[in-house]
This record gives sequence, C-alpha cells and structure tokens, in this order.
Amino acid sequence: MKYQVIRNEKYDFLGQFYATSYPNLHKYPATMLPQIGIEVLKELNISKGKLLDPYCGSGSSFASGLECGITEMFGFDINPLAILISKVKFTKISVNTIIETKAKLRNEIFEFVKNEQNINKIKLPNITNIDFWFSKEVAQNLNIIKHFIYQIPDENIKNFFLVPFSETVRDCSYTRNSEFKLYRMKSEDLVNFNPDVFGVYFKKLNDTIFIYSNIYFPKLTDDIKVDVQYSKFQPNENSFDVVLTSPPYGDSRTTVAYGQFSTLSNEWTGIDYARKIDGMLMGGIKAKSILKTGVIADYISEVNKVDNKRALEVTSFYNDLEVSIKKVAKSVKTNGKAIYVVGNRTVKNIQLPTDQFIAEKFEEQGFRHLITYERALSSKSMPSKNSPTNITGKTVNTMLFEYIVINEKK
Ligand SMILES: C[S@@+](CC[C@H](N)C(=O)[O-])C[C@H]1O[C@@H](n2cnc3c(N)ncnc32)[C@H](O)[C@@H]1O
Repeated sequence: MKYQVIRNEKYDFLGQFYATSYPNLHKYPATMLPQIGIEVLKELNISKGKLLDPYCGSGSSFASGLECGITEMFGFDINPLAILISKVKFTKISVNTIIETKAKLRNEIFEFVKNEQNINKIKLPNITNIDFWFSKEVAQNLNIIKHFIYQIPDENIKNFFLVPFSETVRDCSYTRNSEFKLYRMKSEDLVNFNPDVFGVYFKKLNDTIFIYSNIYFPKLTDDIKVDVQYSKFQPNENSFDVVLTSPPYGDSRTTVAYGQFSTLSNEWTGIDYARKIDGMLMGGIKAKSILKTGVIADYISEVNKVDNKRALEVTSFYNDLEVSIKKVAKSVKTNGKAIYVVGNRTVKNIQLPTDQFIAEKFEEQGFRHLITYERALSSKSMPSKNSPTNITGKTVNTMLFEYIVINEKK
C-alpha cells in the first residue's frame, strides 16, 4: 500500500444513520453520512473558509459544513434532482409562507378536481412510455399537482413544493421502490396498485415541512450561502479552503444508477435529457485503451485478462476521475484540504484501490497525502453485495469498508 491507510473506528458511526442527525428531504442513492464530514472537519480544525463539493448529490457535505460553522459552500452535480434537493435544503425561506402556500395549493387542487371536465384541460407532460410507468388516473392527478405547483411565482417556494412532488412521482409510479434502477413492478403487483396521489403528496409535503422547519431552517442564518449548480465542476483557481465530497465509486451503469433513479422525477420536472444522465456521469463514455500507469494499472490489467470490455469501462471511470481531480486541485488554496470519502469497488473479483488512486492523483497535482482512514460501512444506502462475475447467485461482499482520503495542498 503506497499511501497509508489507518483503520479508524471513530468513523464507523455504528448504528447511526443519515437521519440520526440530518434526515434527508428526499431519498437519494449512496448518500454520505454527514457525521463523517463533521468529524473530519473537526479533526482538521476547519470551521471557516469556502467549502467545495464537486459531486454534491443531495448535499450531505453542506450539512457537515454547516454544523462546523462554515458559511460559504459551493456544489456541482449533473443530476438535476440532486441539485433540486440540495438547493431546497439549504435555501432559507419563510416557514409561514410555506404553510400559507400549502393551504392555497390544497384549495386550488380540491376546487379544480370537483369539476371532472377540468381534468382534460391540462396537457400531460412529455414522459417516455407514460402508460408503462403510470396508471391513467395517477398520471392525471400528478399532472394536476404539478400544474398548480408551477403557478407558484417564487422560484424557491416552487422548488420546495417540487421535492415532495418528486418523491410522490416515484412512489405512485409502477417502479419497484426497493431498486435504484428503473424496474417495473411484477404484473401481479400492478393489479392492486392504486395509490391515492393527493394523499401521498400532502403527507410527503407535511413531512418535508416538518424536517425543513425543525432541522434545516434553524441553522440557515443570514450569513449562510450555499450555491449549487447543475453542471460538471467549473474550476476556479485558488478559491477553496476545503473540498469535502463523496464521488461515485464507478460508472453509473454498473454501480449506482443515479440517472435511472431520478429519471421519472427529472422528466416530470421538465428535464428533456433525463434519460441521458447516466451516460453523462463519470465513466459514462467508454475509453479506447486501458489505463497503463500509476497505482491502479496492475489492477486494471488483471481485469483485462478476464474481460477487456470491463477493463475499458473501469478505465474510463478513472480517466474521468483524474481529469476532475486536476481541476479540483487547481481550485484549492495553498494549505487547503481535499477530503474524499470513497468505496473501493470489486470488478471481476478484483478490488480496485480507488483510495490509493485519489491520493496519488492529488500528490501529482502538488498535494501531500496526510492520511486515509478506513471505516466499516454499515449504514450507507448502497449495495454491499453484488454479482461482479455476473454469474447468477454468485455474490461477493464488495464494499465493507469506506475510505476517507485526506490530502493537503503544498
Ligand atoms: C456518491 S453521490 C454523492 C452523494 C452525496 N454526498 C449525498 O450525500 O447525497 C455522487 C454524485 O456524483 C454525481 N456525479 C457523477 N458524475 C458527475 C460529474 N461528472 N459531475 C458532477 N457530478 C457527477 C452523481 O449524480 C451523484 O449525485
């Protein structure tokens, strides 16, 4: 092992979940425990300056930053659903206005549905295979909710109401909710599936209001600025004091399908490239030759012996990660820290040392590797077992540990 890894039980947070300190406003795959970020920022004595998360997802690193006193935070993600969740969590809006808007929305919807003729007046949005994913009644009712949410003039309040809408879309669709990938329920389950869309929406809205007003709103003092964008990270030289992030651990097609998880929500909120997102994420475009240098090369060469296609897929992910690390490294100030929380995935029974790769790439960009902590993975919402050989029934434990890789700019 070229870069030192220390098993650190302090970071296991056994028995703790995301919700233990910062319940999410919306389900999201492979979230990072905010507790990890809080602990590591404290250990490094970081309580001010600018924080960057180039793969911010639903924003757990901002929860960590907020808890440690950081007031300026910047995030990027190319999944619009991720940005919607992060934005809503960390934008301060009046809880009274939310409650008044909820009452107005409820009245508008219930008045509207009293007259059946109204229902056909609003055109259904462009959802791919809408009849495959939604019953006619569910689609109509979702459309009514959407129609009135889009009449809310204030962008931030509209976004707030879209978060429970997005979860309602998922829960009332024929998707299997236990999967991140977009799979339809078994046909025998469809017959009895008849969700009360308005009931589900207003229950989720109440839950969102409860969590936002009790957990997030009280911490959003006027000096807090969280700026998130749907985009790949845009470098900005010597700008950030700390990078805290949990990047994907492989391409979306063979690891966590962020795009598929979000497809229906993104389509209902008007994202026309919703079905292309997985291909746009890291590792989405296949490399033409396998990676031959650095700490990862031998491992990829082992994969290549058994499967050239998989070796190229894996290479494309590491190529993208390297390009991204170069941009991130440039954007960190001298003495600034880069904290990456990653899993080392297994491909063809070969465990790929992504933690070592990250340490190496930062060192190549003028950083010093301080330490990597190994933590036992108990509560991250991602599969710890899969079938890397693609032999049905043959599974191996792929990720029982996670690594917190800490580098400092010289
Ligand atoms: C492990 S998740 C981050 C989870 C986040 N820490 C949270 O708690 O929700 C990785 C994120 O990287 C995003 N992503 C993948 N490739 C990207 C890229 N090239 N640029 C920006 N974001 C990307 C995915 O959409 C996903 O949201």
